Amino acid sequence: MSDLIEGYLGKTVEGKKSRVPAKLDYLQSATGLFLGLFMWGHMFLVSSILISKDFMYAVTKFFEASFIFDGGEPIIVSGVVLFVFIVFITHAAMGMRKLPSNFKQYQVIKAHAKSMGHEDTKLWFIQAYTGFAMFFLGSVHLYIMMTNADAIGPYASAERVWSAWMWPLYILLLLAVELHGSIGLYRLAVKWGWFDGKDPKATRKRLKVWKKALTWFFLILGFATLAAYIKIGYENQQAGKIGERYVPTAQIMEYKINNGRVA
Ligand code: HEM
Repeated sequence: MSDLIEGYLGKTVEGKKSRVPAKLDYLQSATGLFLGLFMWGHMFLVSSILISKDFMYAVTKFFEASFIFDGGEPIIVSGVVLFVFIVFITHAAMGMRKLPSNFKQYQVIKAHAKSMGHEDTKLWFIQAYTGFAMFFLGSVHLYIMMTNADAIGPYASAERVWSAWMWPLYILLLLAVELHGSIGLYRLAVKWGWFDGKDPKATRKRLKVWKKALTWFFLILGFATLAAYIKIGYENQQAGKIGERYVPTAQIMEYKINNGRVA
């Protein structure tokens, strides 16, 4: 009944307003923080290919818990992706509440931002555009990872990036996720005053420098990584090695030793 009255009047009979919007804001921040930090970890793991194919293979097998199950269990990765997907969808649902829902609202926000001439307000637009793009781009990637967790590895990933045409999607997703992620973490720090210290204004300036540096760092790392997968995918395609799975150097050496030859 109280809900109904608040629905009509904007207040309960006691003259109070619902705390739900504040709780939803909190959920948006918490899921955003998780996803932002997850993306940093994700970028380091995926970029293991820049060190070597063997290293990326080892990282993949580690996440399949090959230290417990012989050869690894990709279903574990599917489970992790499902969890990340649920957090991703929750975060997107919370974010949707902030998007203008018609042209009039959009015009009002635009005019407001213009009259303020405030950089952080302009950042909000980047969040809205990149967030909207990620509804589609992120979902495609997460669904594929969840249902093809057994096809993650130096050759399988490179084949997906190049031969299965994921690279155009990854270029757009990378741009969206790096801008959205670092702006999001910056805004979280400002909103909740995490590093305010004695002089919040000076802190905000410093945070801005960090935001910029992190955006560039992860964009450069991301594009270098993407280029590495594209190169491997292209070379394997030219060599007619489509469908082939990477065999780590240690296993090749073991095979040669067991057969009386040393590499
Ligand atoms: C647990 C969940 C995830 C797993 C297991 C995963 C795994 C991977 C893997 C293995 C690659 C290499 C290419 C490939 O194999 O297709 C990749 C690339 C990429 N992923 Fe994810 N991913 C996950 C979640 C996410 C999320 C939530 C996002 C952002 C919304 C994301 C954004 C990207 C981007 C932009 C690339 C290309 C990066 C580059 O090449 O530098 N991933 N991911």
